[in-house]
Amino acid sequence: MHMKKGLTLWFTGLSGAGKSTLSAPIAALLTEQGYNVEVLDGDEVRTHLSKGLGFSKDDRDTNIRRIGWVAKTLSKHGVIAITAAISPYRDVRDEVRGWVEKTGAGFIEIYVKCSIAVLAERDVKGLYKKALAGEIKNFTGVSDPYEEPTDPDVVVDSSVETIEESVRKIVAKLTELGYLQPHALRA
Ligand code: ADX
Repeated sequence: MHMKKGLTLWFTGLSGAGKSTLSAPIAALLTEQGYNVEVLDGDEVRTHLSKGLGFSKDDRDTNIRRIGWVAKTLSKHGVIAITAAISPYRDVRDEVRGWVEKTGAGFIEIYVKCSIAVLAERDVKGLYKKALAGEIKNFTGVSDPYEEPTDPDVVVDSSVETIEESVRKIVAKLTELGYLQPHALRA
Protein backbone atom coordinates (compact mmCIF):
# COMPACT_ATOMS: atom_id res chain seq x y z
CA MET A 1 0.00 0.00 0.00
CA HIS A 2 2.85 2.35 0.80
CA MET A 3 5.10 3.94 -1.75
CA LYS A 4 8.42 2.24 -2.21
CA LYS A 5 10.32 5.49 -2.26
CA GLY A 6 11.12 6.98 1.07
CA LEU A 7 11.05 10.47 2.34
CA THR A 8 13.11 12.91 4.32
CA LEU A 9 11.18 15.19 6.65
CA TRP A 10 13.59 17.97 7.43
CA PHE A 11 12.78 20.09 10.46
CA THR A 12 14.71 23.36 10.71
CA GLY A 13 14.51 26.16 13.24
CA LEU A 14 16.14 27.69 16.29
CA SER A 15 17.13 25.74 19.38
CA GLY A 16 14.07 25.12 21.54
CA ALA A 17 11.60 26.05 18.80
CA GLY A 18 10.04 22.57 18.93
CA LYS A 19 11.72 20.48 16.22
CA SER A 20 12.18 17.40 18.42
CA THR A 21 8.85 17.93 20.17
CA LEU A 22 7.01 17.91 16.84
CA SER A 23 9.06 15.13 15.28
CA ALA A 24 7.98 12.65 17.97
CA PRO A 25 4.21 12.58 17.29
CA ILE A 26 4.80 12.69 13.53
CA ALA A 27 7.19 9.73 13.79
CA ALA A 28 4.65 7.84 15.91
CA LEU A 29 1.84 8.50 13.44
CA LEU A 30 3.89 7.38 10.44
CA THR A 31 5.07 4.27 12.29
CA GLU A 32 1.46 3.46 13.11
CA GLN A 33 0.68 3.67 9.39
CA GLY A 34 3.27 0.99 8.67
CA TYR A 35 6.28 3.03 7.60
CA ASN A 36 9.82 2.38 8.73
CA VAL A 37 10.78 5.62 10.43
CA GLU A 38 14.10 6.84 11.77
CA VAL A 39 14.51 10.08 13.71
CA LEU A 40 17.88 11.81 13.51
CA ASP A 41 17.79 14.32 16.30
CA GLY A 42 20.43 17.07 16.43
CA ASP A 43 21.30 16.65 20.09
CA GLU A 44 21.61 12.88 19.73
CA VAL A 45 23.60 13.07 16.49
CA ARG A 46 26.11 15.35 18.21
CA THR A 47 26.83 12.70 20.84
CA HIS A 48 27.55 10.02 18.21
CA LEU A 49 27.83 10.70 14.49
CA SER A 50 29.02 14.29 14.97
CA LYS A 51 30.83 13.93 18.27
CA GLY A 52 33.59 16.51 18.55
CA LEU A 53 32.06 19.02 16.16
CA GLY A 54 31.42 22.54 17.42
CA PHE A 55 29.30 25.43 16.18
CA SER A 56 31.49 27.23 13.66
CA LYS A 57 29.96 27.49 10.18
CA ASP A 58 32.29 24.75 8.97
CA ASP A 59 31.38 22.38 11.79
CA ARG A 60 27.66 23.04 11.44
CA ASP A 61 27.90 22.43 7.69
CA THR A 62 29.73 19.16 8.34
CA ASN A 63 27.08 18.15 10.89
CA ILE A 64 24.24 18.89 8.46
CA ARG A 65 25.93 17.07 5.59
CA ARG A 66 26.41 13.99 7.80
CA ILE A 67 22.76 14.06 8.87
CA GLY A 68 21.75 14.69 5.27
CA TRP A 69 23.85 11.82 4.00
CA VAL A 70 22.27 9.39 6.45
CA ALA A 71 18.78 10.72 5.70
CA LYS A 72 19.40 10.36 1.97
CA THR A 73 20.67 6.81 2.38
CA LEU A 74 17.68 5.80 4.49
CA SER A 75 15.12 7.51 2.24
CA LYS A 76 16.62 5.83 -0.81
CA HIS A 77 15.61 2.50 0.74
CA GLY A 78 12.05 3.46 1.50
CA VAL A 79 12.53 4.69 5.06
CA ILE A 80 11.04 7.93 6.32
CA ALA A 81 13.98 9.82 7.82
CA ILE A 82 13.02 12.64 10.14
CA THR A 83 15.74 15.13 11.01
CA ALA A 84 15.67 17.72 13.76
CA ALA A 85 18.76 19.93 13.72
CA ILE A 86 18.87 23.74 13.63
CA SER A 87 20.44 23.55 10.16
CA PRO A 88 20.86 27.31 9.99
CA TYR A 89 22.31 27.64 6.49
CA ARG A 90 20.05 27.62 3.45
CA ASP A 91 22.66 26.51 0.92
CA VAL A 92 23.47 23.32 2.84
CA ARG A 93 19.79 22.51 3.43
CA ASP A 94 19.20 22.93 -0.30
CA GLU A 95 22.25 20.81 -1.09
CA VAL A 96 20.84 17.98 1.03
CA ARG A 97 17.43 18.34 -0.62
CA GLY A 98 19.21 17.83 -3.94
CA TRP A 99 20.88 14.62 -2.73
CA VAL A 100 17.60 13.20 -1.47
CA GLU A 101 15.55 14.13 -4.53
CA LYS A 102 18.21 12.68 -6.82
CA THR A 103 17.49 9.23 -5.32
CA GLY A 104 13.82 9.64 -6.19
CA ALA A 105 12.80 10.06 -2.55
CA GLY A 106 10.73 12.98 -1.33
CA PHE A 107 12.01 15.89 0.71
CA ILE A 108 9.77 18.01 2.89
CA GLU A 109 11.21 21.05 4.63
CA ILE A 110 9.37 22.05 7.80
CA TYR A 111 10.26 25.43 9.23
CA VAL A 112 9.56 25.55 12.96
CA LYS A 113 9.39 29.22 13.79
CA CYS A 114 9.43 30.76 17.24
CA SER A 115 10.13 34.27 18.40
CA ILE A 116 13.29 34.96 20.36
CA ALA A 117 11.14 36.48 23.10
CA VAL A 118 9.28 33.19 23.60
CA LEU A 119 12.46 31.11 23.28
CA ALA A 120 14.19 33.24 25.92
CA GLU A 121 11.14 32.91 28.13
CA ARG A 122 11.00 29.09 27.75
CA ASP A 123 14.74 28.62 27.88
CA VAL A 124 14.49 24.92 28.68
CA LYS A 125 18.26 24.42 28.53
CA GLY A 126 19.17 27.81 30.03
CA LEU A 127 21.17 28.63 26.92
CA TYR A 128 19.32 31.77 25.76
CA LYS A 129 19.96 33.52 29.06
CA LYS A 130 23.66 32.82 28.70
CA ALA A 131 23.71 33.71 25.02
CA LEU A 132 21.84 36.99 25.59
CA ALA A 133 24.29 37.80 28.39
CA GLY A 134 27.14 37.24 25.93
CA GLU A 135 28.38 34.13 27.70
CA ILE A 136 27.94 31.85 24.67
CA LYS A 137 29.43 33.10 21.47
CA ASN A 138 27.92 32.21 18.10
CA PHE A 139 24.56 31.18 19.49
CA THR A 140 22.05 30.73 16.67
CA GLY A 141 19.42 33.46 16.56
CA VAL A 142 21.24 35.60 19.12
CA SER A 143 24.83 35.99 17.97
CA ASP A 144 24.98 33.65 14.98
CA PRO A 145 22.90 33.61 11.78
CA TYR A 146 19.76 31.64 11.09
CA GLU A 147 18.77 31.80 7.44
CA GLU A 148 15.02 31.30 7.16
CA PRO A 149 13.85 28.90 4.45
CA THR A 150 12.69 30.85 1.41
CA ASP A 151 10.20 28.25 0.24
CA PRO A 152 9.47 25.77 3.05
CA ASP A 153 6.87 23.06 2.45
CA VAL A 154 5.34 23.65 5.86
CA VAL A 155 5.70 26.54 8.31
CA VAL A 156 4.63 26.18 11.92
CA ASP A 157 5.04 28.78 14.65
CA SER A 158 5.31 27.38 18.14
CA SER A 159 5.05 30.83 19.72
CA VAL A 160 1.43 31.13 18.55
CA GLU A 161 0.28 27.56 17.83
CA THR A 162 -0.33 24.57 20.07
CA ILE A 163 1.62 21.39 19.37
CA GLU A 164 -1.63 19.83 18.09
CA GLU A 165 -2.16 22.67 15.60
CA SER A 166 1.39 22.35 14.30
CA VAL A 167 1.08 18.55 14.03
CA ARG A 168 -2.14 18.99 12.04
CA LYS A 169 -0.41 21.26 9.52
CA ILE A 170 2.34 18.72 8.97
CA VAL A 171 -0.18 15.87 8.70
CA ALA A 172 -2.14 17.90 6.14
CA LYS A 173 0.96 18.26 3.98
CA LEU A 174 1.80 14.55 4.30
CA THR A 175 -1.77 13.72 3.29
CA GLU A 176 -1.72 16.15 0.36
CA LEU A 177 1.48 14.51 -0.90
CA GLY A 178 0.01 11.03 -0.51
CA TYR A 179 2.16 9.79 2.35
CA LEU A 180 -0.82 9.55 4.68
CA GLN A 181 -4.40 8.53 4.05
CA PRO A 182 -7.04 11.11 4.89
CA HIS A 183 -8.14 10.79 8.53
CA ALA A 184 -4.86 9.18 9.62
CA LEU A 185 -4.97 11.58 12.51
CA ARG A 186 -7.94 10.47 14.56
CA ALA A 187 -7.48 12.41 17.76
S1 ADX B 1 23.33 22.82 13.92
O1 ADX B 1 23.52 24.26 13.78
O2 ADX B 1 24.57 22.07 13.69
O3 ADX B 1 22.21 22.31 13.11
P1 ADX B 1 22.36 21.26 16.14
O4 ADX B 1 20.89 21.17 15.92
O5 ADX B 1 23.18 20.09 15.76
O6 ADX B 1 22.91 22.60 15.46
O7 ADX B 1 22.64 21.52 17.68
C1 ADX B 1 21.94 22.54 18.35
C2 ADX B 1 21.94 22.32 19.86
O8 ADX B 1 23.24 22.50 20.37
C3 ADX B 1 21.06 23.36 20.53
O9 ADX B 1 19.76 22.88 20.73
C4 ADX B 1 21.78 23.63 21.83
O10 ADX B 1 21.31 22.74 22.81
C5 ADX B 1 23.21 23.29 21.55
N1 ADX B 1 24.12 24.44 21.33
C6 ADX B 1 25.29 24.63 21.99
N2 ADX B 1 25.94 25.71 21.53
C7 ADX B 1 25.17 26.24 20.55
C8 ADX B 1 25.30 27.38 19.68
N3 ADX B 1 26.38 28.17 19.73
N4 ADX B 1 24.33 27.62 18.78
C9 ADX B 1 23.24 26.82 18.73
N5 ADX B 1 23.05 25.74 19.52
C10 ADX B 1 24.01 25.43 20.42
